[in-house]
Amino acid sequence: MAKHKIILDKNIASVFTRRDVDKYLYDLLPERDAVVREMETCAHQHGYFIIGPAVARLLALLAQVSGARRIFEMGSAIGYSTVWLARAAGPQAEIFYTDGNPENARRAEAYFRRAGVSRRIHVLTGDALALLKKTPGKFDLIFNDVDKHQYPAALRAALPKLRRGGLLITDNTLWSGKVTRRAKDADTRGVKEFNRLVHASKQLFTVLLPLRDGVTICRKV
Ligand SMILES: C[S@@+](CC[C@H](N)C(=O)[O-])C[C@H]1O[C@@H](n2cnc3c(N)ncnc32)[C@H](O)[C@@H]1O
Repeated sequence: MAKHKIILDKNIASVFTRRDVDKYLYDLLPERDAVVREMETCAHQHGYFIIGPAVARLLALLAQVSGARRIFEMGSAIGYSTVWLARAAGPQAEIFYTDGNPENARRAEAYFRRAGVSRRIHVLTGDALALLKKTPGKFDLIFNDVDKHQYPAALRAALPKLRRGGLLITDNTLWSGKVTRRAKDADTRGVKEFNRLVHASKQLFTVLLPLRDGVTICRKV
């Protein structure tokens, strides 16, 4: 059977990695199952922004090596990153999906059922920052992928809800390279301020990986 190839559209491709190297990197990735492949196709066809399989594998690896069991996701869309986190964390895990758009949540729920992970996922709709604040308890891993102008506020919401030793993982932290320019738009300013704050914080040990659009991994010390 021919291997399913991901389409390197402008969402998945990196502006920092040479096109041929990017293609090589994605071609190396093992085949995904039918549900995950369908989610990738759906994202491509309908213009949903998803992290794609390379960043998803990093998330899954971090969930596994950290042994994360309580996971909160801020900005989940059709649930692509949620499925990867839920599968990596295992049947005993509890994953909180959040999105402001109920239509996205309905689509995600159908995928969760087909992916066999519904029972470990709580689907919450509304503002992810407010939902995080009002969900009781602390988390082992928080994945932040909300609107970029909200990144500093998302950091303020996440820090008190992260257990010591827990991971805050944030996508799009190079924002197509716009972070290097003097920024007027709120999204770029939000990402730049977030990057400055997480690197200055004495509460966090931070690494920014230039994978795809930039992924920042912070461990609460
Ligand atoms: C980039 S997409 C998430 C993609 C998802 N993490 C994945 O990789 O599969 C961002 C999503 O966050 C949602 N969103 C943005 N800001 C939000 C907020 N403050 N509260 C809840 N949802 C939010 C948007 O509706 C959108 O569906």
